[in-house]
Amino acid sequence: MVSCHDTIVVLDFGSQYTQLIARRIRESHVHSIILPSTASLETIQANRPKGIILSGGPASVTSAGRPEWSKAIMKEGLPILGICYGMQLIAQSMGGRVGRAKHREFGRAELRVRDGSDLFRGLGEKTPFSVWMSHGDRIETLPPGFKSIALTANSPIAAMKSVNRKHRLYGLQFHPEVVHTTHGARILKNFVRHICEARPTWTMGSFLHDSVEQIRRQVGREKVLCALSGGVDSTVAAAMTHRAIGKQLTCVFIDNGVMRKHEVKQLKQAFRSFHFRAGTQARPYIRMVDASEQFLRALGRTTDPEKKRKIIGRQFIKAFEREARNIGNVRCLVQGTLYPDVIESVSHRGPSATIKTHHNVGGLPARMKLRLVEPLRELFKDEVRVLGKELGLPDDVIHRHPFPGPGLAIRVLGAVTPARADMLREADAIFLDELRVQGLYRQTWQAFAVLLPVRTVGVMGDQRTYEHVIGLRAVTSVDGMTADWAPLPQPFLAHVANRIINEVPGVNRVVYDISSKPPSTIEWE
Ligand code: XMP
Repeated sequence: MVSCHDTIVVLDFGSQYTQLIARRIRESHVHSIILPSTASLETIQANRPKGIILSGGPASVTSAGRPEWSKAIMKEGLPILGICYGMQLIAQSMGGRVGRAKHREFGRAELRVRDGSDLFRGLGEKTPFSVWMSHGDRIETLPPGFKSIALTANSPIAAMKSVNRKHRLYGLQFHPEVVHTTHGARILKNFVRHICEARPTWTMGSFLHDSVEQIRRQVGREKVLCALSGGVDSTVAAAMTHRAIGKQLTCVFIDNGVMRKHEVKQLKQAFRSFHFRAGTQARPYIRMVDASEQFLRALGRTTDPEKKRKIIGRQFIKAFEREARNIGNVRCLVQGTLYPDVIESVSHRGPSATIKTHHNVGGLPARMKLRLVEPLRELFKDEVRVLGKELGLPDDVIHRHPFPGPGLAIRVLGAVTPARADMLREADAIFLDELRVQGLYRQTWQAFAVLLPVRTVGVMGDQRTYEHVIGLRAVTSVDGMTADWAPLPQPFLAHVANRIINEVPGVNRVVYDISSKPPSTIEWE
């Protein structure tokens, strides 16, 4: 379907930053769509783009294995901006020469602007600013009719444009889409708003409106099931779907027996106050299913993290299948899948290495021939929070920390016995309560306790103890793809550790995790 907004097409050559480009365009209130680099000319044209952005990518334009693309789009007279690999592609296609750089550039560089019109409009030519580089190739010779419009110490052609006005081709050797590039958002805005003259009609409100329409069209009169976890993603996806199709939607919450302390009770209360449908008091139908025994039985004494994840994934599928049968004639499944979950399928590169088997109800659609409704698949977590606000969801839902589908099963390291799960629940509740009381909850992206599979010696009241260790993990992040450990105040950590050791029987030691992601991950399993 062609959008009613002016659209920028982003061709993805496999950069890890492609969605960030789309996101920056949205921040300029312009609509964009990402297509694989191999998209045909007809597909690109069908979106009636006002301009094209060619992303970066891991390939080299000089190597045989580089991705194919519809070069003919360059003849359409549309503004085209190539970023990194995309710039080199334009240069090579227009008769320039690209070669291996003597000095590869990764990380920060200082950019000096030579031509402060169009792309660098408003940024001046006097003061250099920081840009983020990540390239091994560089342009050795500009194509005829092009000029360099900015440089760094190692790249005399850090940005270029065609002087021939017939073409309107631009290139940036650095990445304007990453936050480390000081004026990156402004540069992309200059491209989409001033060079492409795309109208700024995209807002979260317009996204919501368009998505609701799209869900209605996709679902028709069919019955729809939503796997509601109580987290912000599935709640926002459910709220949008409910706004679109009302009573056709049934939400199912499965208690898997590895939820946090009082969580199921709190979610029940929260769900009661949900009035997703704008302007009405209609509530979505939410089934609360207690499958805890079934999950815990299946977990048994399993200790291997991947096996635990797979067992939980399978149990979720079973539980949802049962519910779908009870509802009868379910044809669609709503999931709160975000962009970081779909990154591989958009890129031409194919799937990346499996670090952890993330559980969702992934096996269900294929087994039950369900169509997937994924209204959030283009968004990042912080954008979903803005959308939640637009939908009028309560603040404590919008700002809930992410919680993994396999729940505490991957935070109780080793076997998940009821006693060990309870010990973790108590420690975790103390940590989270204190974060809230001290106003630190919103300053961390995610925080939780883990129970380690070791015991250590301690001394309590002159007695030797040989008890369990609790690890505390708190991270800052934007999207969970990368994260840093949160430097929580030392007196706060001391207070939490003291409370846990005094109040949780069986624990005699608390440690704080100071690892970033990468190389660690956020969860321990
Ligand atoms: P990692 O541990 O991979 O986690 O750095 C990144 C983010 O994903 C969450 N996570 C999951 N979420 N199902 C989910 O829905 C899962 O299986 C799962 N595993 C990890 C994790 O809590 C963090 O926010």
